[in-house]
Amino acid sequence: MKLHVIVPLCALFSLTQQTPSRDKCVCELTHSEKAFPHDRLSTVEDDASKCNSNITPQKTVELESLLLGLEKRLPQLEKDVSELKREDDGQLSSVLSLLVVENELLEIKQLINRLNITMLGHQRLTTNTTKELDDLRAEMQELETYDTMQVVKRQQDNQNLKRDLDQCRNGLYPTAQPTEQPHGHCPHSQFRNISGPRVYTAGEYPGSYKYGAWGRDPKPAAGKENWHWMVLLTSGNKHSNYVRFYSSLSSLIVGVSTPGNVQIHSSNPTTNTIQGPNVVLYGDALYYNCYNQDAVCRFNLTTKGVTTVQLPKGTRFNSKGNFCHLDECYAFTDLDLATDESGVWVIYTTTQDFGNIVLSKVEEPLALGQTWRTSVYKQAVTNTFMACGVLYATRYVNKDTEEIFYSFDTTTGEERFNLGIFINKMSSNIYALNYSPVDQMLHAYCDSYMVSYKILFS
Ligand SMILES: *[C@@H]1O[C@H](CO)[C@@H](O)[C@H](O)[C@H]1NC(C)=O
Ligand SMILES: *[C@@H]1O[C@H](CO)[C@@H](O)[C@H](O)[C@H]1NC(C)=O
Ligand SMILES: *[C@@H]1O[C@H](CO)[C@@H](O)[C@H](O)[C@H]1NC(C)=O
Ligand SMILES: *[C@@H]1O[C@H](CO)[C@@H](O)[C@H](O)[C@H]1NC(C)=O
Repeated sequence: MKLHVIVPLCALFSLTQQTPSRDKCVCELTHSEKAFPHDRLSTVEDDASKCNSNITPQKTVELESLLLGLEKRLPQLEKDVSELKREDDGQLSSVLSLLVVENELLEIKQLINRLNITMLGHQRLTTNTTKELDDLRAEMQELETYDTMQVVKRQQDNQNLKRDLDQCRNGLYPTAQPTEQPHGHCPHSQFRNISGPRVYTAGEYPGSYKYGAWGRDPKPAAGKENWHWMVLLTSGNKHSNYVRFYSSLSSLIVGVSTPGNVQIHSSNPTTNTIQGPNVVLYGDALYYNCYNQDAVCRFNLTTKGVTTVQLPKGTRFNSKGNFCHLDECYAFTDLDLATDESGVWVIYTTTQDFGNIVLSKVEEPLALGQTWRTSVYKQAVTNTFMACGVLYATRYVNKDTEEIFYSFDTTTGEERFNLGIFINKMSSNIYALNYSPVDQMLHAYCDSYMVSYKILFS
């Protein structure tokens, strides 16, 4: 820096002085300002980014999901206690009910403990962060005294001016009306938007299984109304041979599985066990892509028997017709099972459809019903779900956002590519996505986290 200044000055000096006899010249540059402490600024920058990374949206949702779990748990306890009172005849039945209530109390206690720990953590974080912010502010104010040329101050003034101008300009235009959303023929009218995450939990095996699925049975057997299920791809992120149950949402969150596992087969994988993450539970049966076959398997939880239905010739399977985004395809996502108000659906693709999504209804007794062909390319989609007879497809926008961009109405055949409904993700990849018509929740399994969102109908 100094050298650059010296050379032209020297040239000028020698030119004006016209003294060729002197072969050396020295220019002195005195700098009256204090040198700017770059190291202090970079320390502040580091501290600020550390402070930022301490506070994540995950932390807020964690508390909310625990509260939601508790909220769902308490009415159940109340019901069971009143049942106990009614049955209090000194007989065996009341002893059994007492055991049920005791168990529930234990679960609630675990939930409250988790809440306590989470809350204490948050309190600590808040105190810490407030202090850190105060320190950062003081340091920045001190650094500002170096800004003798008022560069930073002018920039701030400019920014404020620009913001005021923007506000003024936006105030002149009315806010854009939301575009009309597709009609689904169902009791909830039009799909308008989606909430932020309502449940966010690492469950019983935090971080252990990247691929999986979870949810609740839309048509549960008597006594299993509050049950939640989970399937983890335990073998090579590809296969599984059991479904795990939780007596309630809060049990799933705290990771206490009372009913435990129901096994399809002792080997994994083997004929008719689970391949790929996009499975669903409906009517006390698990529907999934059968291992190494272009077929849907239905595992009856009562009989523990498996029934299969063959998909059309040309169906892509064994990781040849996956969901993808630009950087990655999700292995073994050839078949996506889905539930909505009307039952079970299967989403797949075939060679003759050139990789575009094909949608078939799965009928009872087990058979393939009506089939629809769409013009959306399966590899341009990250996942799909059904709600009210309408197929919705998502695409990857960035690690924080997924967009529900596409819909296909099975009643009218209408296709739309411009929905523009955004899902606020808690981790990069959604491996399973399914709609629960019971409570209009969308259940997602993302990089070993279980997340759910509420679908907002208008
Ligand atoms: C919450 O945790 C703290 C520290 O572990 C403990 O002292 C306190 O008793 C707990 N409170 C409840 C309500 O469990
Ligand atoms: C509070 O700040 C200190 C350093 O200032 C850090 O070591 C500690 O982990 C922070 N605690 C929490 C809960 O963030
Ligand atoms: C949908 O919800 C998000 C927040 O959850 C909001 O920012 C957005 O404006 C909403 N979109 C519409 C069309 O209502
Ligand atoms: C499972 O098997 C039981 C007993 O045969 C039967 O009643 C029930 O309908 C079956 N479930 C499904 C979904 O087929």
